[in-house]
Amino acid sequence: MDLKLVQVEQLKAKPQDETQLGFGQIFSDYMFQMQYTEGQGWHDAQIKGYGNFSIPPAATVFHYAQEVFEGLKAYRTEGGDINVFRAKDNFARMRKSAERLAMPDFDAEFVHKALLELISADRAWVPQSEGTSLYIRPTYIGVDPFIGVRAAREYIFYIICGPVGAYYANGLAPTKILIEKEYTRATKGGTGFAKTGGNYASSLIAGEEAHQKGCDQVLWLDAEDRKYVEEVGSMNIFFVINDTLVTPPLDGTILAGITRDSVITLAKDRGIPVEERRISVEELMATAKSGEMTEAFGTGTAAVVSPVGEFYYGDEVITVAGGRMGEKSLDFYNTLTGIQYGKIEDKHGWIEKLK
Ligand SMILES: Cc1ncc(COP(=O)(O)O)c(C=O)c1O
Repeated sequence: MDLKLVQVEQLKAKPQDETQLGFGQIFSDYMFQMQYTEGQGWHDAQIKGYGNFSIPPAATVFHYAQEVFEGLKAYRTEGGDINVFRAKDNFARMRKSAERLAMPDFDAEFVHKALLELISADRAWVPQSEGTSLYIRPTYIGVDPFIGVRAAREYIFYIICGPVGAYYANGLAPTKILIEKEYTRATKGGTGFAKTGGNYASSLIAGEEAHQKGCDQVLWLDAEDRKYVEEVGSMNIFFVINDTLVTPPLDGTILAGITRDSVITLAKDRGIPVEERRISVEELMATAKSGEMTEAFGTGTAAVVSPVGEFYYGDEVITVAGGRMGEKSLDFYNTLTGIQYGKIEDKHGWIEKLK
């Protein structure tokens, strides 16, 4: 398939103050889009001006949430190059999400190439200031004009991007996490491992209630026993217990985070024992109380590493590591961001450089 570039004639004004970028509010000049039609396959791939497109009110995505997405970032190095972090892994994960949502497979190599061309077209939108980046959102939706419940026969795949601010505007502040007792996120055999909008829609109410209680995010427990820790709202969760890094296993109900994988790889490089195993909420509370748990942190593209200062569970509040960022969390944060911004050598082939 050819990839057409439709030049934008009138480029938008770029934000002047990179301290005010925030997250997910500003979009660049260009977007990538391609269409799928049953019988014809993928067609009409193009990079064109960012803008609205028209889809029927009956489109499958609106009624039955047939959609998957990804989130990744490109970073500006001190030398002015652009580093894209582990994009191929995002597209590999997106293919698995699409398969679960009964959506046609796509050529990940082609989409990856299109992504690099999109970032090239939008290179002036990759911000310069420390901690900022270009956030990239590949999205894939069913757009059939048919209201019956079945997989769509027409789809749109698109990628949009925009500059985002430093996640930690005020330094690496430990977060307050509510261990969710009432709602659950995913069940075995469900869509927990897929990055699909429905998982997030069903989690919104818990997030709202957590905010009302003064917490930043929720920690989900497994849906069957409400006993084992799964993941945080938009992050995987790690604990340091007796100097071992412990994180829940990828058993189909949590997202296989790319930052999670990066942290496990860095831990192994450092000779830190890693256990991917179930951890019960009782173990969490007991080891945090006894002091055996010296660190807890979330991992995800947005924050990279986000230390947990307190866990709220019913009426109990437990402080981890005196509410400060732990040594290992800080090391993982500094190493990963160092690799992303080109300050630390990338020994794992995670970075693609756009000159
Ligand atoms: C539910 C959920 N878990 C985990 C993650 C972390 O994944 P990643 O490290 O690939 O950003 C995310 C963010 O994408 C998420 O939305």
